[in-house]
Amino acid sequence: MKIVVIGGTGLIGSKVITRLTEHGHEAVAASHNTGVNTITGEGLADVLAGADVVVDVTNSPSFEAKAVLDFFTTSTTNLLAAEKDAGVGHHVALSIVGVERPSEGAYFIAKAAQEKLIRDSGAPYSIVHATQFFEFMGAIADTATDGDTVTLPPVSFQPVAADDVASAVARTAAGTPLNGTVDIPGPERGRFDEMVGRVLAFRNDPRAVVADPDAPYFGARMDETTLVPVTDGPTGETILAAWLEASAK
Ligand SMILES: NC(=O)c1ccc[n+]([C@@H]2O[C@H](COP(=O)([O-])OP(=O)(O)OC[C@H]3O[C@@H](n4cnc5c(N)ncnc54)[C@H](OP(=O)(O)O)[C@@H]3O)[C@@H](O)[C@H]2O)c1
Repeated sequence: MKIVVIGGTGLIGSKVITRLTEHGHEAVAASHNTGVNTITGEGLADVLAGADVVVDVTNSPSFEAKAVLDFFTTSTTNLLAAEKDAGVGHHVALSIVGVERPSEGAYFIAKAAQEKLIRDSGAPYSIVHATQFFEFMGAIADTATDGDTVTLPPVSFQPVAADDVASAVARTAAGTPLNGTVDIPGPERGRFDEMVGRVLAFRNDPRAVVADPDAPYFGARMDETTLVPVTDGPTGETILAAWLEASAK
């Protein structure tokens, strides 16, 4: 199959390209670097010609509330229209566990808007819901830092390795459309503050992690289960300790 990965040069996209290619698909990476821009529409028609499946793993350059909403709505609208013109038979998007539940967080609201456009498009689709990537935990700590203290809510947290997310996305892209969602959380559930604290401690980061139930995560208040799946299902294989060891090499 010809599978076009929009955002195919990013963290997840580049790993998805590798997996699809290993499985014998014609995997084509599309992003600014390859002359494709989902906001302006530049290069979309050309790269989608003859495509069977499109995977959308783009991300917004800005997480500011209006910018991120504009990015995901404009990008998704343009992409779905171009896919319709090209006769693409399956749209696969990567989103976040918990996005379907009401949220005051701007990024979650933008991802929910992206998902609604996909569901309402009438096109065959699959949405992969990942939890927070291990690779993102350092950035989470940085945004929650004041001086030498990282303050996070002590809610449930089940992060996942980008490698496991990429495998789930590639598997979904090679399959038939779900016209629904599939979750890919990590294999271990812990407390948000404690798991971020483990990452910092492993890296000899001197910052202290403090739990505060009212501490926001990217501007939004978190409930106990906001960030984790509410139903049991398959998980990624990589545990945090193994990932930390491997990423330190
Ligand atoms: N971080 C997490 O913990 C987490 C958890 C669950 C889900 N997700 C979702 O995972 C997805 C992928 O994240 P990631 O970390 O892999 O992103 P990333 O590394 O930042 O990569 C983003 C990709 O999108 C491309 N891109 C951005 N704007 C574009 C545009 N207008 N036109 C074409 N390509 C564009 C970039 O290309 P250039 O580099 O050429 O600009 C890059 O290839 C996101 O949608 C995010 O919501 C993330």
